[in-house]
Amino acid sequence: MASHFRCENVMVRFGGVVACNDVSLDVEEGKIVGVIGPNGAGKTTLFNVLSRFQDFSEGKLFYREQRIDRFRPHQMVRLGLARTFQNINLFVEQSVLSNILIGSHCLIGNPLASLFWLPGARRTEQELTERAIETAALLHLERDLDTVVKHLPYGHQKRVELARALASRPKIILLDEPVAGCNDEESAELEKIVRRINRELGITVVLVEHDMSMVMSVCDYIYVLNFGANLARGTPAEIQSNPDVINAYLGKEE
Ligand SMILES: Nc1ncnc2c1ncn2[C@@H]1O[C@H](COP(=O)(O)OP(=O)(O)OP(=O)(O)O)[C@@H](O)[C@H]1O
Ligand SMILES: [Mg+2]
Repeated sequence: MASHFRCENVMVRFGGVVACNDVSLDVEEGKIVGVIGPNGAGKTTLFNVLSRFQDFSEGKLFYREQRIDRFRPHQMVRLGLARTFQNINLFVEQSVLSNILIGSHCLIGNPLASLFWLPGARRTEQELTERAIETAALLHLERDLDTVVKHLPYGHQKRVELARALASRPKIILLDEPVAGCNDEESAELEKIVRRINRELGITVVLVEHDMSMVMSVCDYIYVLNFGANLARGTPAEIQSNPDVINAYLGKEE
């Protein structure tokens, strides 16, 4: 399988803390790839590097064999990368529809057309709204479009974040703990949605998650990080029976 997105030997230091220590990861096209590891293992820092929110002192990044080390976050969005955040990062005073539309602003063509409210711009605005409504339906948010985000239950808010990420029409999506804080029902729903995003929309997924039952059931293969470094890579069955992985988890409370 072709590499969609990869990093090689990435180093990130925060003062004396080495958050990513020589980390390498290869995300194959069309797969769901898990990234797991105990708290503080460097998973979010790695996502921040991959989405270019975080600089790194050493290492290389590739998107389909193109070097992208110096790309900025908005360039990553244009390449086709979207992400969600470990802590919900929405405009909570605005409606669900407005939040989803924010994710699609990168698709607007000529900004001058919208400035002068030309017919082309109006069409775009209408198209984006139609697409936002379709995305909301995929995530079962169609009845919440006009609801102000802060009035929604937590599980719905997690889905709005996912909808906003999908609204940029990504080819690859990084999900940082999509079911954290959700109840069992919400988690099961999100698990199904992640599968559909992958199978029906053909989006490559990279998933950081502490919910092991979700990780083991949806991922094609998994990377394990520990103390900022690669500990293992394998299929869910291989990872579950890997003694190094078991030790890493037993050494900490999860
Ligand atoms: N901005 C920062 N400044 C200083 N240290 C940081 C910063 N961000 C992360 N760290 C440290 O880097 C290490 C890795 O943190 P990171 O958040 O990447 O871990 P994680 O695997 O996502 O953990 P969790 O499962 O708890 O979300 C930790 O020791 C953390 O305290
Ligand atoms: Mg994290």
